[in-house]
Amino acid sequence: MKRSTIVFCGLAALMMVAVGCSDVKRKPGKVYMPDMAYSRAYETYSTNPVFADGRTNQAPVAGTVKRGDEYPVHIGMDAIGDTANYFASRQLVNPFTELTADQLKESERLFLINCAICHGSKLDGNGPLWKDGDGPFPSKPAALVGDARYENMPDGQMFYSITYGKNLMGSYASQINAKQRWMVISYIKNKQGKLKPAAAAVDSAAVATK
Ligand code: HEC
Repeated sequence: MKRSTIVFCGLAALMMVAVGCSDVKRKPGKVYMPDMAYSRAYETYSTNPVFADGRTNQAPVAGTVKRGDEYPVHIGMDAIGDTANYFASRQLVNPFTELTADQLKESERLFLINCAICHGSKLDGNGPLWKDGDGPFPSKPAALVGDARYENMPDGQMFYSITYGKNLMGSYASQINAKQRWMVISYIKNKQGKLKPAAAAVDSAAVATK
C-alpha cells in the first residue's frame, strides 16, 4: 500500500471516530409537556388579557429599586402647592452618620463645586452670586451655618430640597447622585459642628484609652 493511502485511511478513521464521539444530538427527544418546555411568551408590545389595562408592557412595581442603586429615594416630589412629601421627608435617615477624612474632603469638593457659588464657602449664605445682595441672584440663599432654621433642619428635609429644589434653588439630582447628596448634607452638619469626622472620633477614643 502506498504511503499516502495509509495516511489518508488513517485520517478518515480518525474523523469517523471524532464524529462518532461528538455529542451533538441531531434528533430532539420526546416532549411530554410542550407548553412547559416551550413557553408561550407574549410579545413586549402585544395586547395581554392577564393585566387589567390589557398591555404586556408594565411599569415596574412601586418601590422597585434600580439595579446598582445604593441609596434609592422613595419619596416623590410634591404636586405644586402641596408640602406633604416635603415634611414626610424628615423621616429619611442619612446613611452617613460619620464621614471618614477622605469622605469629608470629597464632600467639601462637591459642596464647593455645586453649592458654594450661592451658599458661600463659609456656608453663610453669602456666596459670589449673592454678595450681600449686590450679586446677580435675586433671592438670598439659606445661611446653612448660623441660622437656627437650617441648623435644626432634619437631614431628610435637606435631602428633599436638594433632590427636588426649593423655591429659587433648583434640583441638584442630575448633578450629584443620592450618595453624594447625603455626603454633602453630612458636610453641612460637620460645618454646623454636629458631625465629627470619623478619623477624629477614632483618635479621641485612642487618646481616652491611653
Ligand atoms: C443658584 C443658587 C443656589 C445654589 C447653587 C444652591 N442653592 Fe441651596 N438654596 C438657594 C436658595 C435661594 C435657597 C432658599 C430657598 C427658599 O427657602 O426660598 C436655598 C436653600 C437651601 C436649603 C434649605 C432648603 C429648605 O428646605 O429650606 C438647603 C439645605 C440647601 N439650599 C442646600 C444646597 C446644597 C447642598 C447645594 C449644592 C448641591 C445648593 N443648596 C445649591 C440657592 C442655591
